[in-house]
Formats: sequence, structure tokens, C-alpha cells
Amino acid sequence: MHIVFAASECVPFAKTGGLADVVGSLPPELVKLGHEVTVYLPLYAGVKAHIKAPIDGEWPYAIRSITIPFESYNRFIGIVDGGRRGGVQYYFVDCPELFDRLGLYGTKDGDYPNNWERFGLFCRAVLEATKILGVPQIFHVHDWQAALIPVYLRTVYSLDPMFQHSGTVLTIHNAGYQGWFPPVTTERLLFPWDLFTLDKVEQFDNFNFLKGGLVFSDMLTTVSRKYAEEIQTAEFGEKLEGILHARAADLVGILNGVDYAQWDPATDGNLAAHFSPDDLAGKRQCRADLLHAFGLEKVADKTAVIGIVSRFATQKGFDFVAEIADKLVERDVVVVALGSGEPVFERFFRDWAFRNQGQVAVQIHYDEALAHKVEAGSDMFLMPSRYEPCGLNQIYSLKYGSAPVVRATGGLDDTIDEWHPKQGTGTGFKFEGLNAWGLLDAIDRALVAFKDKKSWKKLMRNGMARDYGWAQPAREYAKVYEDVVKRRG
Ligand code: ADP
Ligand code: GLC
Repeated sequence: MHIVFAASECVPFAKTGGLADVVGSLPPELVKLGHEVTVYLPLYAGVKAHIKAPIDGEWPYAIRSITIPFESYNRFIGIVDGGRRGGVQYYFVDCPELFDRLGLYGTKDGDYPNNWERFGLFCRAVLEATKILGVPQIFHVHDWQAALIPVYLRTVYSLDPMFQHSGTVLTIHNAGYQGWFPPVTTERLLFPWDLFTLDKVEQFDNFNFLKGGLVFSDMLTTVSRKYAEEIQTAEFGEKLEGILHARAADLVGILNGVDYAQWDPATDGNLAAHFSPDDLAGKRQCRADLLHAFGLEKVADKTAVIGIVSRFATQKGFDFVAEIADKLVERDVVVVALGSGEPVFERFFRDWAFRNQGQVAVQIHYDEALAHKVEAGSDMFLMPSRYEPCGLNQIYSLKYGSAPVVRATGGLDDTIDEWHPKQGTGTGFKFEGLNAWGLLDAIDRALVAFKDKKSWKKLMRNGMARDYGWAQPAREYAKVYEDVVKRRG
């Protein structure tokens, strides 16, 4: 089967979060199952370093020019051939006026105001490109940035003979980001006005990209079973619970896998030493290397190193950490945090580190290699998310013998089992409720467990033995595609 992936992020080309990891690692796994997969991405400035250098100033265009019409003007896009990797074909939508910038979605000052145009164009460009490069049986689109593909297919392109047998699958990686724009977006993107109703793309008098995708896709998936249930409720549905509940029969939760070629402490090239369940010795060296990288020296073995790697977004629950920050530093812990994002959280971490030098250290930037070091060198990994569709870092942590301390929500709840010291079962520590004291309590349970070195090793090994590879999720996606193909005839 031929599947086209359309997304705004993909490792190694462009990444702000876990979406990129998933779009980077699922396609090669589908290829292993015998499918043909093509991935379309915008040609952002940062992508260029990853593709073949231009020959005489010319990018390797697969298509030189496609006209994308807007209300009173046209844009002309090219499709750059990114070649094949791991059996997957990559194409990049080249529209320098819209994509040739460093930020994927915006700058420090906020989102680009014309994101409606950037991703509206991207969706239409993918459809037009496939008409020349190969129409798939399935368009698998990800998040709001690609969610208009099913909308265009079933409206503006509904009579196009080339797409009569194409089905669509939309994966919701995060219902908190929906792409809200003013009503006029409808006509700016050349949709008929009858699309702007509450049962289609309208949401609180706005044009909502994600909602359109939810209405018009054949099947919907999200990235854990628990989140698939949660988003049908008012607490987690971000005001889309109505349509999600209505489409419950077509909504499947498929837990993300991880790419163990990138995330395995036995082979990880970013680490000072390697380790595995059979030989944990290298973890000590990784811990020393991590502390050094954060300017923290002379930390006793009995002190627990707590790691954080995250986008600093409200979703991630760092307001809970702020609430217990003073209490936490009374414990025998050091904290190392790597992340960037909302100024309020960057400020909190900076202040916290400033007030607790030698015990709390933060680096406010994006650093892939350091993220690996934090997983490998920490004893515990903190993810107190308010909601978490899947979460990848806690799954990496399991493999790296860093016990996850998580809020029991979404994929965090699905992947982490509470440690039971008596039975020696479990992989981490969980708390329920939107309550900072629950978090502190979970950390305290982890600290008690950490004192007993023998049972702590058991806990580490329990986590390291878990297999969250892509083989199983890829089969589940393939089953979804097959169901859609059957429906479409
Ligand atoms: P989300 O997609 O909501 O940000 P995930 O846990 O699914 O959460 O994925 C986050 C991904 O982004 C992980 O691969 C993580 O290592 C990476 N990441 C987040 N912040 C940083 C950072 N500051 N430096 C390096 N990697 C980061
Ligand atoms: C989103 C979610 C995260 C998930 C990732 C990949 O960014 O916030 O929980 O792991 O997408 O699916």
C-alpha cells in the first residue's frame, strides 16, 4: 500500500517536539512491513542542511512549479526531492516567502500571523504534488498543520478523479494546538462558505483547522489509549470533545513507539559511557558527565539526580514544580533541567537555579545531545504534565534506567507502572489529580526507594526491560490503513 505522510515536523529535518520523532520513525517501520511511504514536509530554512546541496544554485526539484491559488493572488511552489532514506521517500514543499525562516511556527514574540496561509498552502501543495508524483491509497496527516488535507479532499477536490480511492487518517498528537483563525480564512483558503458551520470547521466563530480534520478524515488516531478516552471529555477535549465523542467509533489510540537506534544507552553515541541491564556500571560515568555538563560537581552518590527535558509549556505542569520548589530542595536531591518555551517557566527555572546554586541547574535552549545525557545521567525523570497525549521522554527514561515520576495522565499513565517495593514490580512513580502535593509525595516515594540500592536496581532493570519499539504500533497503523482502504473500496 502507498501511504503519504504530511506533517510539519520530522526528525532529522525539523523538530520542536515528539511529533518529529514519530514522523521520523514510523515510516521506515511501515516500509519494513512492505508498504511504500512518502513523507511531505515544508522546506524550512533549517531543513536545507539535511538535504543534498543545490547543484549550481538549483535544488534537486522533483517539480519546478505548482500554482497554489488564493483569493486574489497565486503562490508558486516547488517540490524538492529529499531522496530516499530507510526506504522512505522525502519531498519538501518549497515556498521561500512562507517557509524559509528559522522558526517552524513563530518567533520568541509569538506565532507567525500568517500560519493559516503557511499550512493551508502546505496542505494544498501536498495534494497537488501527489497528482504528479503519486497519489496514495492513504493520506496520513498529523496535527492541525496538515489537517486541511482531508478537508480539501472531501470538498474542493471531491470531484477530482485522481483522488476517488484515497482514504485519510488524521493523528492527533496534541488536541491543545488546533489552528484557530478568523472566519475570513474560509474564503482566503478558497473554501465555500457552507463549510463554516458548527458541524464542520467553525468553532466559537473561528475557523479551526484541527476540527475540520476531525470531521472529514476517514479514521482518527491519537497517541495513547488513555488519551483517546480523555479527549472525549470536557477536561481534556479542549472544546473538541463533542466531535471526538461523536466519532468515537472511528477513533483509535495507538501508543507511540521509540526509535531504539537513537535511544539506547548500550549504543548511544552522545554518552560518556555505555550501559545495559546486564552491566549498569557505565551509568555512574554518565551521571558524572551530566553533572559536569550542568556545572554541578561533587554530588554524593546517595543524592538523587532528578532530570527534566521538556518544552516549557503550560501542558507540562511545571507550575506544580514551582509550587513545591522550596520543599524539593530541602530533600537530598539535585535537579538538572533542559528546556525552553514560555517565558514564565524559563524565568521560574532561572530563578530557582540562581537561588539554589550547586543544587539546581538549568539550561534554556534546545540541545539534542544534552537531552540524551540527561536521560542517561539522571536517577529520576520528572514529567508532571497536566495532560500528555503520549510523551516520549518517560519511555526513553525507562530504557536509560532513570525512574519516571509522572502524573497519571494520557500516555504517561499507559507506559508507567507504580513501583511496589514488596513485590519488586513497577517502573516508576505516579500521582493523580491536579495537585502539586501529589507530585511531592510521588518524589518522596521515589526518594525512599532510591535509598535501597538493591531494590532500586530492580526498579531500573524493570524499566530497561520494557520494549516500546515501533514494530507493534506500526502493525496497528497498518491495520487502520487497511480498514480505511476497505471502506473506500
Ligand atoms: P512534546 O512533543 O509534547 O514536546 P514528547 O515527550 O512527546 O513531548 O517529546 C519531546 C521530544 O522533544 C523528546 O524527543 C525530547 O527529548 C525533545 N526535547 C524537548 N525539549 C528539548 C530540548 N530543550 N532539547 C533537546 N530535546 C528536547
Ligand atoms: C505531542 C504530545 C506528546 C506526544 C507527541 C508525539 O507533542 O504533546 O505527548 O508524545 O506529540 O506524538
